[in-house]
Amino acid sequence: MAECQGDGEGAKSPMELYEKLTAQGEQVRALKTAKATKADVDAAVQLLIQLKTDYKQMTGQDYKAGCPPSENSVAPDNGPAAGGADDEDTVDPWNVSTNNAKGVDYDKLILRFGSSKVDKELVDRIEKVSGQKPHRFLRRGIFFSHRDMHQVLDAYEKQKSFYLYTGRGPSSEAMHVGHLIPFIFTKWLQDVFDIPLVVQLTDDEKYLWKDLSLEDCHRFAVENAKDIIACGFDVNKTFIFSDLDYMGASPEFYRNVVKVQKHVTFNQVKGIFGFTDSDCIGKISFPAIQAAPSFSSSFPQIFKGRKDIQCLIPCAIDQDPYFRMTRDVAPRIGYPKPALLHSTFFPALQGAQTKMSASDANTSIFLTDTPKQIKNKVNKHAFSGGKDTVEEHRKYGGNPDVDVAFMYLTFFLEDDEQLEKIRQDYASGALLTGELKKLLIETLQPMIEQHQQRRKQVTEEEVKLFMTPRPLNFNF
Ligand code: TRP
Repeated sequence: MAECQGDGEGAKSPMELYEKLTAQGEQVRALKTAKATKADVDAAVQLLIQLKTDYKQMTGQDYKAGCPPSENSVAPDNGPAAGGADDEDTVDPWNVSTNNAKGVDYDKLILRFGSSKVDKELVDRIEKVSGQKPHRFLRRGIFFSHRDMHQVLDAYEKQKSFYLYTGRGPSSEAMHVGHLIPFIFTKWLQDVFDIPLVVQLTDDEKYLWKDLSLEDCHRFAVENAKDIIACGFDVNKTFIFSDLDYMGASPEFYRNVVKVQKHVTFNQVKGIFGFTDSDCIGKISFPAIQAAPSFSSSFPQIFKGRKDIQCLIPCAIDQDPYFRMTRDVAPRIGYPKPALLHSTFFPALQGAQTKMSASDANTSIFLTDTPKQIKNKVNKHAFSGGKDTVEEHRKYGGNPDVDVAFMYLTFFLEDDEQLEKIRQDYASGALLTGELKKLLIETLQPMIEQHQQRRKQVTEEEVKLFMTPRPLNFNF
């Protein structure tokens, strides 16, 4: 397309990368034939491997000699790997399910989506660059996958700042603890890197997908904003917006939506999101609206019109399809690709086969639950990895890997040593299910009570301020 621009990663398009790869393959063969030194061959092979990784990242496909990428290729969900009976995990923006009690196989998801693992090296690097102890979500593999985090850190080390973008689909007034995960982590990222944050409330999305009125969706957006603010965000560094408001208020935002719309075909969104001919056209064009905040020029009031500020998106892995699409379009409309940090799902009380859902009260601990409700829900509904009788439990021990109370503690208990001790004691049978649940209840009750206190203190004026397009305390 005419607007093609460099993407900062060398190759501009899958085709160009494919051609580079083919040339590099020939180079390796030529070096080997010419009996070049081992060092020369190794260097050429290293480059070849790097190009193959880039190719997989860009197209979602493995490079095959003689098979050029198809036109308009967008990194797809590679689908469950062929063969293997346990490959039935469903993960898309609307459904999450698996047959495995331990939850979704996240390593397989990394391969399927073509992202990269958050490994120890990356966690160590985040520690080094930020100068802070990594958040427990990083230490414990809850933010387990990423795209381009090293690039973000490289740039940050060279004093090139970036910004954070995350969001929430306001489908009801009731938020549950699972909804807090990306916001707790985003708050930590904002604190340690001292960078701007934009939060998109997709009231338009919920109107299009659910049986709700526009007014209700917008009202839920404002109500949810209060819970987000209660996570402790700094009003001088954070812009929260409802799509229904901001689309009409910001010509720059809408321009970016249109640019994305022009560069993605119906075929592509069908492939990525599974839309069919009978989906309303609002759904079909919505992905462009979730893509637009990934580009700094959508917020001229914050970035002074600059279009080159890198974006980092912390989100649950089910949102990745939107951002695979975004990353594919970005270089074609002259913008940097957003980087991503993906989290695992917050399991339902009934078990890790699915995530918490706000529409089923018994699967979730809500931010409005009383201490008593929390206690009852955990005791009654939290799936236990313990044995049926105390005798058996003492003898054989429990299974923390499928135990929901233990899983929740890995999200919320800060102390690593204490968590490890709980795990060992539960597995050995020294700690009983009731005792484990009690530990969780005692962790959740004060956490949720404090959230409720902070939310109560959020005033209407404060919400208005957070949601007003305005400059933030940063100089770009
Ligand atoms: N689609 C998301 C949801 O339904 C909301 C959302 C919009 C989002 N932009 C985002 C989530 C960016 C994470 C990151 O919840």
